[in-house]
Amino acid sequence: MAGIYIHIPYCKQACSYCDFHFSTNLKSKDVLVKSIVKEIEFRHKYLKNNKLESIYFGGGTPSLLNKAEFEAIFDALGRFFDFDDSAEITIETNPDDISKENLLLWKDLKINRLSIGLQSFNDEELKWMNRAHTANQSINSVLLAQDLGFENITIDLIYGSKFQDLKSWQKTLEQAVSLNTQHISSYNLTIESKTVLGLKNLKGQEPAINDDLSSQQFLLMTDFLKRSDFIHYEISNFGKEGFFAKHNSNYWLQKEYLGVGPSAHSFNGTSRQWNIKNNNLYIKALEQNLNYFEKEELSINDRFNEYVLTRLRTIWGCNAEEIKLLFGESILAHFLKIVEQKKTDFEEFNGVYTLTPQARLFADGIASDFFID
Ligand SMILES: C[S@@+](CC[C@H](N)C(=O)[O-])C[C@H]1O[C@@H](n2cnc3c(N)ncnc32)[C@H](O)[C@@H]1O
Ligand code: SF4
Repeated sequence: MAGIYIHIPYCKQACSYCDFHFSTNLKSKDVLVKSIVKEIEFRHKYLKNNKLESIYFGGGTPSLLNKAEFEAIFDALGRFFDFDDSAEITIETNPDDISKENLLLWKDLKINRLSIGLQSFNDEELKWMNRAHTANQSINSVLLAQDLGFENITIDLIYGSKFQDLKSWQKTLEQAVSLNTQHISSYNLTIESKTVLGLKNLKGQEPAINDDLSSQQFLLMTDFLKRSDFIHYEISNFGKEGFFAKHNSNYWLQKEYLGVGPSAHSFNGTSRQWNIKNNNLYIKALEQNLNYFEKEELSINDRFNEYVLTRLRTIWGCNAEEIKLLFGESILAHFLKIVEQKKTDFEEFNGVYTLTPQARLFADGIASDFFID
């Protein structure tokens, strides 16, 4: 089964740390939704399988879409794909968009999973992030969604900023757990160069990330969330039993997905495509039948490198049998040789290799040592 990702590239205001593709000029929103509908019409055959296991509205801020815009997209999806109530249908939302009216609309549209970007429970930090909500609003948004019957909610948190020490991070985690959501995504703050935070950091007005402290916060988090019945199934993702994100798991398990909207990526097992990161050019290209994406055919080495990079971040790990089947004996021999050199970083069970909790801190670096050119 396959997944579809729909990128909604609009935000009310720019968060100081965020490097995702979005615009704060919302004027083109309705036209861009029409372009997304066109892209679904043009590209639905990209997926070999038209049965959808997950539909994911990401952004940007999908909670800015109105009823007519959502309906136009769902109508297009319904014309070309097969999905039922068992499909996971997620929208990313910002707490300031969560109202009774919106929640009822999303329920009506059969959206069954909400991702709510809380980021922090510290109002001073939220201000520094240029978020459009307070901590109280965040908490109330989760409670309201639960009251209205949403039973699959995930929240986003960010750790590692200058506002968090170990004590305040522990308190943040306690507050997060007390919200009783089914899932938590928690990201280590990255200072991206083209953001307000990145520019200030360059001018010496904001400190660099204290890597030692954020590593300690990571370990505190993995331990605390484990004790709170969350399964740490990917570096930044924690789910209660039965509530791992189907959408993201599809990425990590190399299943096929179609991404529509500006900047969206697609993968069909053998190639990757990525759409242009510019709203106006995307709209124009879809109106005038121009090219709006780049494509890369993946070699067997590329696919192996991606396999190791994503799998080492997850509890599914790298499976020796699977490596042999997908990439052949010589790549398996290469994999086992490097594992042998890095024994202390790995745990092995029935031919499945995962990283130790300590080594997960360096997952991407360790994965890169396996890469084949
Ligand atoms: C693309 S955002 C969309 C979610 C939604 N618009 C929101 O802000 O709540 C997804 C998540 O990525 C995380 N994120 C974005 N930029 C980040 C950065 N530079 N460092 C760490 N986490 C980041 C935030 O936690 C955010 O909620
Ligand atoms: S974190 Fe979310 S709301 Fe903030 S700029 Fe990024 S996508 Fe927009």
